[in-house]
Amino acid sequence: MPEFTDKLALSTLTVSAGRPAQGPDVPLNPPVVLASTYGAGGDLEYGRYANPTWEAFEDVLGALENGRALAFASGLAAVATVVDLVPVGGVVVAPRHAYLGTLGQLSDLTTSGRLSDARLVDIADTDAIRTAVAGAHLLLVESPTNPALEVADLPAAIAAGHDAGAVVVVDNTFATPMLQRPLDTGADVVVHSATKFLAGHSDVVMGALVTAHTARGDALHAELDARRRKVGAIAGPFETWLALRGLRTLALRVERASANAAELARRLVAHPVIERVRYPGLPDDPGHQRATVQMDGAYGAIIAVEVRGGAEAADRLTRTTRLWVHATSLGGVESTFERRRRWATEIPTIPENLVRMSVGIEDVDDLWADLVTALDALPGQRR
Ligand SMILES: Cc1ncc(COP(=O)(O)O)c(C=O)c1O
Repeated sequence: MPEFTDKLALSTLTVSAGRPAQGPDVPLNPPVVLASTYGAGGDLEYGRYANPTWEAFEDVLGALENGRALAFASGLAAVATVVDLVPVGGVVVAPRHAYLGTLGQLSDLTTSGRLSDARLVDIADTDAIRTAVAGAHLLLVESPTNPALEVADLPAAIAAGHDAGAVVVVDNTFATPMLQRPLDTGADVVVHSATKFLAGHSDVVMGALVTAHTARGDALHAELDARRRKVGAIAGPFETWLALRGLRTLALRVERASANAAELARRLVAHPVIERVRYPGLPDDPGHQRATVQMDGAYGAIIAVEVRGGAEAADRLTRTTRLWVHATSLGGVESTFERRRRWATEIPTIPENLVRMSVGIEDVDDLWADLVTALDALPGQRR
């Protein structure tokens, strides 16, 4: 693979990194390597240890995050692998409104005694992080959080974790490296659900970890790679190839989807059926100032709205659109939304009427027209 430096723009790296060296008859794209085993005596040896399609994906993601990437079977496989580095009886600090699957893992690990404590904090409250992280082994930050869209003060949170001697991991799924690069702010590891924006087409489940170019990052990379081999939570080569193909258009997709989201958030604020809009791009959002400082000129493609009329009205909204697809997950080219508390496992402090919206790359006026028709049709809500 050619060497790329941080002198290239991120949008160039999405296109140019992770390709075979150019030459006559060399395919421009790395092939899907379907191999459970390789001829003995080389670097690869076995399909659970290495795969050239992983390496191409890892080269691109590593270049974008300014670190070294490892592909995993899913975002949660990546989370589980990094949490597994915590010693038996160790302590983890995490956002109380982190992705529910992450919280589910931490809950199981404390119940079983594998962890002595998982301290859950308001990740926007840096003082709370400072207090909680004393004696902890790992600080897991998610910013913006899923689905409450709280914004951590990333530099302060990362410093607090390091001051306490903890490994600091940042889930960068919502922002993507196009908008936020936590390793440049001092984090040790970045985690991704590549299922979301990185792959970007709602056809792949995959995850990744990216370690910093530091002595600690290199040590973590070796440990995480070893865990991946031993536990076997590896990505399929075809999924990885699809995710790599998705990465090629990440810059364009994130730019367009974020612009659509910013416009829709502005319009939603003015709609009488909407009680509250959570979007860091709105000037009066609690996370706006921080996001403006630590994100690159856009605020991502996820909005959360609270719908007047409670869970019933929110459910009705998600069932009456034509373009917006009622579905879980996020980060695809198509706009999707769901009421988060329809999941019994969602955190009870997430309001019953909160609808998480993942804005796609369609025409913004078409998206708005579809939405406003459904909002105006809610019973008793006519303007
Ligand atoms: C922020 C965040 N982290 C991690 C995950 C888990 O990723 P996956 O579903 O790929 O296992 C998700 C999934 O929704 C997520 O939103």
